[in-house]
Amino acid sequence: MPVSIHDLRAYKARGERFVMLTAYDHPTAQILDEAGIPVLLVGDSLSQVVLGYDSTIPVTVDEMLHHTRAVARGARNALIVGDMPFMSYQASVEDGLRNAGRFLKEGGAHSVKIEGPQVELASAMSDRGIPVMGHLGLTPQSVHLFGGYKVQGRSEEQAQRIKIWAKELEEAGAFALVLECVPSALAQEITAALSIPTIGIGAGPGCDAQVLVVSDMIGLTGGPAPKFVKRYADVRGVIADAAKAFANEVTSGAYPDEEHSYS
Ligand code: KIV
Repeated sequence: MPVSIHDLRAYKARGERFVMLTAYDHPTAQILDEAGIPVLLVGDSLSQVVLGYDSTIPVTVDEMLHHTRAVARGARNALIVGDMPFMSYQASVEDGLRNAGRFLKEGGAHSVKIEGPQVELASAMSDRGIPVMGHLGLTPQSVHLFGGYKVQGRSEEQAQRIKIWAKELEEAGAFALVLECVPSALAQEITAALSIPTIGIGAGPGCDAQVLVVSDMIGLTGGPAPKFVKRYADVRGVIADAAKAFANEVTSGAYPDEEHSYS
């Protein structure tokens, strides 16, 4: 059996920290699964880091499902979370249920993630057997409402709102909660108040778990990264060096040699 939503709750109860990483394709899902990463999020960050759009707004349900299926085929043990894209659940609970069902039926995901205080929808999903992960703080689908990718919850009023929504999402049946770009103290307070695990990204060390966009974490993404990103590898450099070495060997005549040719 793959990791379940109950395992995540048990990690929290035992005080065991865990990680989630994004994955968008089959080989990456295989590598992360074999490395023992318990939760793979097919994030709507697909829009930027794989498809080259400038926000998460343009990516569609069909594009998300295409990549969710590839991840599902690559992972044996990880819990797979399909990220519901912009306007696949905001217009009505019915829309949200129908599209969430597609992630499970057509995408092979075990659960879905939704952004913001979608309490009624979270409750409707839980009632119908669809495990749902919440996401509060800087919710990128609302970037235009926020006026940019800004830390959320710095004012007392914002912090109160996020705390109330976190509790409401837990009560509605969410099995975990992503907290993105909120002050560390607020994330720690919410983590202590909830029995479901919090998964932080730019939310400091006080969360039960941490998530990063895999392409940021392995150094595949170009350009400047947000303050919270730590690069654990330079895959962009590895690919560039390999491509240059290949080009040099072809132009010099060193490749293909006898070893790599047929008689
Ligand atoms: O889409 C995504 O990658 C996410 C994570 C940043 C949590 O939602």
